[in-house]
Amino acid sequence: MITAEEHQAALLPVNGLMQVIINGKKICLARNQMGYFAIQDNCPHAGGVLSRGWCEGNRVVCPVHRYAYDLRTGRGVADQGDAVKTYPVEEREDGIYLGIKDAWAWLKPG
Ligand code: FES
Repeated sequence: MITAEEHQAALLPVNGLMQVIINGKKICLARNQMGYFAIQDNCPHAGGVLSRGWCEGNRVVCPVHRYAYDLRTGRGVADQGDAVKTYPVEEREDGIYLGIKDAWAWLKPG
């Protein structure tokens, strides 16, 4: 039998990144010493895949040109002048939940 902590560590180790796709939305799930974070997975600089980068403390570093984004706020480091979208994450007894808000709803004309 494995504990919930062992299961989570197997899923995503500390300082690990992984891509999750929810409703077609690509999200970078990150885990560091403070817990889990979720940000958009495409880098706003030139479209790099952030989940293929790495964690440095509270930042994720893009593997393409090494721009870095704060996992807590989504803000790029000082001179970048950009940011990524963040999503709320909750660790619950039965797993990890991401707060995704639907951006579009189909409205029937007429
Ligand atoms: S594409 Fe991410 S830093 Fe350039």
